[in-house]
Amino acid sequence: MTYYQKYHVPAGTFQVNARKPLILQAYLNSCVGVALFDAEAGIGGLYHILLPEPVSHKSEYNREKYAATGLPLFLGSLVREGADISRLQAVIAGGALAGKVSNQDIRLDIGGRTAEVVKEVLGKHGIKVALSETGGFFTCCLNFNLETFDYEVIPALLSDEQEADDTTHGRISRLDDIQPIPQVALKILRMIDEDVYDIHNLSQEVRKDQVISAQVLKYCNSAVFCGQGGIDSIDDALLIIGQASLAKIVTAMAVKKLLNNSYTGYSLAKGGLYHHAIGVALVAEKIASLSGKASPFAAYSAGLTHDLGKVVLDQFVSGARPFFYREIMGENDLVETENRLLKTNHTKAGLKLAKKWDLPASITNTIRYHHCPCEAEAHRELVTIISVANSLFHMFSASPSLHKVDMNSLSRRLELLDMSISDFPAIVDAIPHQVLSGSPELAIT
Ligand SMILES: [Fe+2]
Ligand SMILES: [Fe+2]
Repeated sequence: MTYYQKYHVPAGTFQVNARKPLILQAYLNSCVGVALFDAEAGIGGLYHILLPEPVSHKSEYNREKYAATGLPLFLGSLVREGADISRLQAVIAGGALAGKVSNQDIRLDIGGRTAEVVKEVLGKHGIKVALSETGGFFTCCLNFNLETFDYEVIPALLSDEQEADDTTHGRISRLDDIQPIPQVALKILRMIDEDVYDIHNLSQEVRKDQVISAQVLKYCNSAVFCGQGGIDSIDDALLIIGQASLAKIVTAMAVKKLLNNSYTGYSLAKGGLYHHAIGVALVAEKIASLSGKASPFAAYSAGLTHDLGKVVLDQFVSGARPFFYREIMGENDLVETENRLLKTNHTKAGLKLAKKWDLPASITNTIRYHHCPCEAEAHRELVTIISVANSLFHMFSASPSLHKVDMNSLSRRLELLDMSISDFPAIVDAIPHQVLSGSPELAIT
């Protein structure tokens, strides 16, 4: 194993070397770090830049402090060592508004402007940017390995696991920060659980909730129902789309607001959690129909709500582990990764929320056991349907997948539903094409 020495590049300086076992590091707040390397020539370096450009020529006595005047020096040094500008690749990081931020910081946005100047100068020389992670509100560390020319940008806010542990639990105990699920959605979920459908009661409940009513009508008049339009009351909606579809739309709209409130801890894009929830709900509905092991509507609702715990953890993750989505990407076992990094996981956090909101047992069990359906003592078949739907959605959806699917475990879970891998084509066939093409919301009714 190679032993790597580490060298911390101080602000306002750069370090250039030929290939050797050394890791160059820069801790970056508003400063911008730039690693440049020519792998063929074996020359690389790291530059820790403080400011975008000198305010007057008088201050040019320390040209390395500024991106505009220091980058040409950094490039010159690389070329002198033997690098070819046409082969250089760049990694850019930092430029954040980290720590306590005043209005003046935001107005000046020094980091943002420095990053802009860097990109401009690199662009002028036609230098390819291999990775650029700038902006945001977090301190990060740019590591550049002078031997392998590997690089990484990692959050530098947490100094030890203990801090993560305490902060995560502190966050989870503050469930009150989460906006509660609308009453009407709760009623629908309970109706499904008790298998008692009182549609009269349902439409009355929907009418009482102005926000949900407006969202449902907007949805009913959207492109999904193209050509129909003119649905301007919940009674019209009931008449035209039917009670089952109305209930599905109401629950979807209820979780949409909740899931869209989350930031980017678990997803690469805003709305990613909702997109995932709808996709899993629709796939689960189909598996329930095919297997006959649960009511399709129950499966749909359990699919919509199965990852509510991510909303709880996202509050913490997006603040303290800004690159969490990258850490879970490609991992086989999301729950195990969460346990390691956060000392808890989204099924436990979701369980707390489900208990607080008094969600029905079928939903609560799904939230808790959808990553380990064999452990569910009740509603095991429903929980298994959601677990399988979750895997299939990751496998086939057009969205960036966050974890890999273990085929052995998938086949064991299908057995719990009296199905097998040979039923796979039929299941995939039943998945609405909108789910596979990345617009699951269009397939709700
Ligand atoms: Fe999950
Ligand atoms: Fe999920």
